Amino acid sequence: MEQTEVFKPETLDDLIKTLHEIFESDSVNVEEVQSIMEAYESKPQEWMKFAKFDQYRYTRNLVDEGNGKFNLMILCWGEGHGSSIHDHTDAHCFMKLLQGQLKETLFEWPDRRLPAGMVQKSQRVLLENQCAYINDSIGLHRVENVSHTESAVSLHLYSPPFQACQTFDQRTGHRNDVRMTFWSRYGERTPYETTISQENN
Ligand SMILES: [Fe+2]
Repeated sequence: MEQTEVFKPETLDDLIKTLHEIFESDSVNVEEVQSIMEAYESKPQEWMKFAKFDQYRYTRNLVDEGNGKFNLMILCWGEGHGSSIHDHTDAHCFMKLLQGQLKETLFEWPDRRLPAGMVQKSQRVLLENQCAYINDSIGLHRVENVSHTESAVSLHLYSPPFQACQTFDQRTGHRNDVRMTFWSRYGERTPYETTISQENN
């Protein structure tokens, strides 16, 4: 098998620049994006300005809009914070751990005709610098910081960008359409009116 050398971005800016180059092409090479994101070694001083926490739930903080091809954002998870079970609106989703650990639980899509509890497929813990990938054909997931003592920070890339998704009730499989908003954009806190009654992804 041919061994391809993975370029190692030295800084977050370097990583963003490389992602812009990769996404100039119209087809996404999932393995390439995943290895580039994994190769970046997280340095808190490079992403600190985007990492804004909320006391009550995890936050989504926009880092880069990828020339319209992708959204790059930093999610900040306080102790015990978690997402609902959600889909990814036909987009690619890459999730890299910048700090701490996150538990990812995969679920099968529920059958619309047979309301029932959702079927769990697998579960894993993502460690610092690891990069996970999911799309709708793989399934649905829930992401949680199960630690009671450590916060977690993750870097997410969604391509193409999307502003709404579906969340699922684990007990019934019932779905809800939700709109997603940013807690901050480019390091600046988003005005309050636009962040109320949000559901994150
Ligand atoms: Fe997700």
